[in-house]
Amino acid sequence: EAIEKGGYEHFMIKEIFEQPRSIGDCLRGRLNANEGHLHLGGIQDYINKITNADRILIIACGTSWHAGLVAEYIFEEFCRIPVEVEYASEFRYRNPVVGEKDVVIAISQSGETADTLAAIELAKSKGATILGVCNVVGSSIPRATHAGSYTHAGPEIGVASTKAFTAQISVLAMMALMIAHKKGAIKESVYRNLLLELDAIPDKVAKCLDLNPQIEIISEKFKNATNFLYLGRGYNFPVALEGALKLKEISYIHAEGYPAAEMKHGPIALIDENMPVVFIATKDGSYEKIVSNIQEVKARKGQVIAVVTEGDTEIGSMADHIIEVPAAHEALMPLISVVPLQLLSYHIAVMRGCNVDQPRNLAKSVTVE
Ligand code: G6P
Repeated sequence: EAIEKGGYEHFMIKEIFEQPRSIGDCLRGRLNANEGHLHLGGIQDYINKITNADRILIIACGTSWHAGLVAEYIFEEFCRIPVEVEYASEFRYRNPVVGEKDVVIAISQSGETADTLAAIELAKSKGATILGVCNVVGSSIPRATHAGSYTHAGPEIGVASTKAFTAQISVLAMMALMIAHKKGAIKESVYRNLLLELDAIPDKVAKCLDLNPQIEIISEKFKNATNFLYLGRGYNFPVALEGALKLKEISYIHAEGYPAAEMKHGPIALIDENMPVVFIATKDGSYEKIVSNIQEVKARKGQVIAVVTEGDTEIGSMADHIIEVPAAHEALMPLISVVPLQLLSYHIAVMRGCNVDQPRNLAKSVTVE
């Protein structure tokens, strides 16, 4: 086991640090940004069906469901196809409306999640086209789908998903761009720029990993907190959910993720000097809005930890702690902004003496209901 951990103390930290390589592996052979080439062979036979879909339904559980939420924003923005994201466990039991012109994308790291598999069978029985985005080659979900693309992140051992999440978003972004381009829904210049942006992600993730010592120091300050709030908007909203989930899973600290603007409809009541609030506030279309949300939290004496774009001075003057990450296209930002949150939850859990790779009550793959 020590050898498998490759010198790292836990699988989780090894897998977090593998991300520049795992994202690179996921893009390799599919993306050639300089030549404007993008091709996912696994969905080629269904490309017309997808471009003509009435609707895309994304089905998943846990962290994979969060990757689905990021994909919803990307698909709607660039493909102009309506998208719904569903928890597999809800979808399978609620008599959903599904038809032959629906395309279902099932996302699963393990490819064995029972609820996701059952949801696939239900959608298939109603005539939908089913695509899979899975990590484990030859697992049950890829075998149950019509087509799909593997994430090629390599084995993920830590129960809390890290590198599988970023690989899922990478594949889903490629899928969306391939479909948008085929459909003629995206301007050529925007498409070409996004391919270059995608190509640059592994190096930018590597830069985020350099923040590890700084994040360890911040973790020390918050390791005894009993609650955490994670807030983001737009593409960073699912990242807030994922950051909160990571912390809950491995450190057993209660954490909630929320869209920052929804704070005023409830969570703001929780804010006092003891409440750490993590803002994912990188420069994007909703930047000014999230700056006001930070001010609202500071006015109530909350402790603000903000993930910001490198060189941001505005938030630096308000937040208690800032974590600066490289700039990227906002649609791809989750691939970057999630990394410091993975590190934060890892360090806090280690400092609390938790079993980070095998947290209590959780399983890597949930093959029963
Ligand atoms: C379990 C795991 C999570 C995972 C979820 C969905 O809860 O602990 O890390 O996100 O299942 O699993 P899947 O393999 O379908 O992505």
